[in-house]
Amino acid sequence: RKVLVLHGPNLNLLGVREPQHYGAETLSTINARLVDIGQQRGATVEVFQSNREYELIERIHATVADGTDFIVINPAAFTHTSVALRDAISGVKKPFVEVHLSNVHAREAFRHHSFFSDLAVGVICGLGAKGYEYALAHALDYSVPEAP
Ligand code: DQA
Repeated sequence: RKVLVLHGPNLNLLGVREPQHYGAETLSTINARLVDIGQQRGATVEVFQSNREYELIERIHATVADGTDFIVINPAAFTHTSVALRDAISGVKKPFVEVHLSNVHAREAFRHHSFFSDLAVGVICGLGAKGYEYALAHALDYSVPEAP
């Protein structure tokens, strides 16, 4: 099993950026833990962060040919803005869980809408970095639902 964990813009600043919303851990600490959990379960976990919409779209397209079974994605601010990123993940037809560190519904109104949630297998928000671990646990247990 191969799981791709995608992080959108500004998540490279984790640990420094608004720790009241996003916690004190750095992205590299979080990523290292996710890769480690994958190894323990005999799965490959690949992580990728970009501040560029184009690079995230290209990485999603690459999943068609690279053996990715499942995507865990925190689209960050692109959650609320990017039809292009939505179309990319819809186009490759990979199951995915949407993760947000903060509880976006308890914050500004512009964070309440997501271009991803209706396509996602599930959505986790407000549980901090643990949310990625829960999403990964789901990805590792996931079996493709049978067609009706
Ligand atoms: C975020 C929430 C978004 O509204 C925000 O733009 C982010 C991070 C989160 O993880 O809580 O950059 O996706």
